[in-house]
Amino acid sequence: MKKWNDSPKIQELLSRMTLQEKIGQLNQRNICAYDEHVEEIKQEVREGKIGSLLFSGSAIPENGGMEAFDLDFTRELQEAAMESRLKIPLLLGRDVIHGFETIFPIPLMMAASFDDRLIEECYSALAAEAGNAGVRWAFAPMLDLSRDPRWGRVIEGPGEDPLLGSRYAASAVRGFQGGSPAQEGRLLACAKHFIGYGASEGGRDYHHTEISDYALQNQYLPAFRAAVRAGVGSVMASFNELSGQPVTGSRRLLTEVLREQLGFDGFVVSDWGGVEQLEAQGVAENGADCARLALQAGVDMDMADQCFARHLEAEVMAGRVSMEEIDRAVERVLQAKLRAGLFRQPVRETVNIDRVKHRALARRIAGESMVLLKNDRNLLPLSKKGRVVLTGCMAQNRDSLMGAWTPDGSADSVITIEEGIRAVAPELELFTESCTLLSDMTAVMEQADTVILALGESARASGEFHCLADISLPEDQAALALRARRLGKKVVGLLCFGRPIALGDTISLFDAVLYAGHAGCEAGMAAAELLFGDRNPSGHLSMTLPRSVGQLPLYYNAAPSGRPVNGYYTECRNYIDESGSPLYPFGYGLSYTSFQVEKARLEKETLSLAELSAGEKAVLHVWVSNTGERDGDTVLQLYLRDPAASMARPLRELKAYERRTLSAGETAEFVFRLGLEELGYYLPDGLLTLEKGEIQLFAGFDAWAEECAKLRIV
Ligand code: NOJ
Repeated sequence: MKKWNDSPKIQELLSRMTLQEKIGQLNQRNICAYDEHVEEIKQEVREGKIGSLLFSGSAIPENGGMEAFDLDFTRELQEAAMESRLKIPLLLGRDVIHGFETIFPIPLMMAASFDDRLIEECYSALAAEAGNAGVRWAFAPMLDLSRDPRWGRVIEGPGEDPLLGSRYAASAVRGFQGGSPAQEGRLLACAKHFIGYGASEGGRDYHHTEISDYALQNQYLPAFRAAVRAGVGSVMASFNELSGQPVTGSRRLLTEVLREQLGFDGFVVSDWGGVEQLEAQGVAENGADCARLALQAGVDMDMADQCFARHLEAEVMAGRVSMEEIDRAVERVLQAKLRAGLFRQPVRETVNIDRVKHRALARRIAGESMVLLKNDRNLLPLSKKGRVVLTGCMAQNRDSLMGAWTPDGSADSVITIEEGIRAVAPELELFTESCTLLSDMTAVMEQADTVILALGESARASGEFHCLADISLPEDQAALALRARRLGKKVVGLLCFGRPIALGDTISLFDAVLYAGHAGCEAGMAAAELLFGDRNPSGHLSMTLPRSVGQLPLYYNAAPSGRPVNGYYTECRNYIDESGSPLYPFGYGLSYTSFQVEKARLEKETLSLAELSAGEKAVLHVWVSNTGERDGDTVLQLYLRDPAASMARPLRELKAYERRTLSAGETAEFVFRLGLEELGYYLPDGLLTLEKGEIQLFAGFDAWAEECAKLRIV
């Protein structure tokens, strides 16, 4: 990775800056185009008191779109910066999470495509669209590993698995930043939230997190390791207190782990108000303490609360903060500005946006990420010439299909489920009725033998501080399914929820279920293409689907318990009143065709630690057949288990996967290469290790994959 800190430009600037100007670079303020403080903020920019602006408001779903801004507004702001004594451009940041003008599926669903290249293309599209509005820094990707779908922010990240999260991280960073964030149509990315925020207790946002160093290294850090390797330019510190230390004030996490272990060399921004919050979190007595603690921990830029701006100067004067500490943070912020090309081009020309291409991408990824959970007697795909009833609260909905965190999108751009079905199957006799009183529904449902129930939840049921205590299928929606079932209809559930929900026994009310998620602007088209067979389902769950809320948290890569032996994600560890197994495991997803692992072969069944340390890899060949009558995409997944190591390792760990199209009847060979990093694990202190012994390998299409080979490490 290129080092920027030796840049003469930065050293020269630093040597000319006053302490106040330096602190200004560390100060990020929030701005809205309609804000009454715009002129006041511009004046502060001219005085060198602000280094970055954040166009916010997007955290609150109800605020979506309120604070519209455009290139002209961002130009005015940069002009103010150019009037400052040192002419240091502003870094303009925005929450570009999964959509700008074009709204892609929520990240949890994009991850379910297991399609790294496509994910990268989607983020490139986002970067170009946001860049044209003057945004130079995106507060994404969110890489919080999450195991509790009650947490509203599960929608923003890639789910429960460290490998899927890592590959998602690399794709998103490459998509945003390209070869360099200074290039046309690219942005500086921000890996967030570092670290452990997704473990908030009980799925309650902002709550305490308790994570052992071992889990931190092996579960929570991998996605950030991958983002750092992909060259991510910035990292956002998380709000949470982790095992007694709020992350924003933790030198151990922000400096020793993030910089010294992971090798991150960009800059760290706090989350909104995260610096000032250290007082309420119980580790600081006042604002000055908060500012000092955060800076010395490794926060370089203070988001929104102006705690640095208010207190750092006095802290330096009092000798509690050194000039070196200030300079180090300022250097990192200036390096990022240099890297983002801001000194050369504070305002960029717009690039041509191919909106048709972006929508095609949105449709493709929506289609690839929807998960077929159930398809009794091959009810799906439906005939385009039959009679079908479509009802349910999501049938004609637009805004919720966009998902949370879409402040720049417009619901008008969303194709509804009904519109999608009419476009894909124009000859279908389609009877639609929006969900009204149950008593009215009998007459509606009597019009056809097949009923599609488009069910789901509002985009406001998820996102920041929008958590749910109950994630089961809402009662009125379950009642609708029951009515259809009692009327003897064939019931297709199209589930447009922003998170995994607990379907419990209600699953039996459906003959077929397509888990569509909040799928973005092309949701209706993508769902219709799948329901009517223009496209073959291929999404695989990025999070375990529990049966009931009481099972949470439930995830596949749990530690072994020993009582009973090999009790893996199964009935073995049950409650008295609930099973220990999920309804559908991580990685699960059906197709209209079927796939089978034929055989697997390791090139070498024994490898020595010395060979692996020298870079050699275990090479596994797996042959997979499409045993059905349709072409289709499969996602072959490779899991491992290390049954005896110095530290107990999970019962399954996803170590490789590949998505590939197989024609009907075709058998294809997949080759997976596992080196030290894939086979080994991290000790609590961050050291990668691998020990002698046997490693079991499992190949298949979800976390219940069967054993296919054994590797002996000597
Ligand atoms: C708070 C959120 O936690 C973070 O993800 C977001 O980027 C900032 N607010 C800015 O909106």
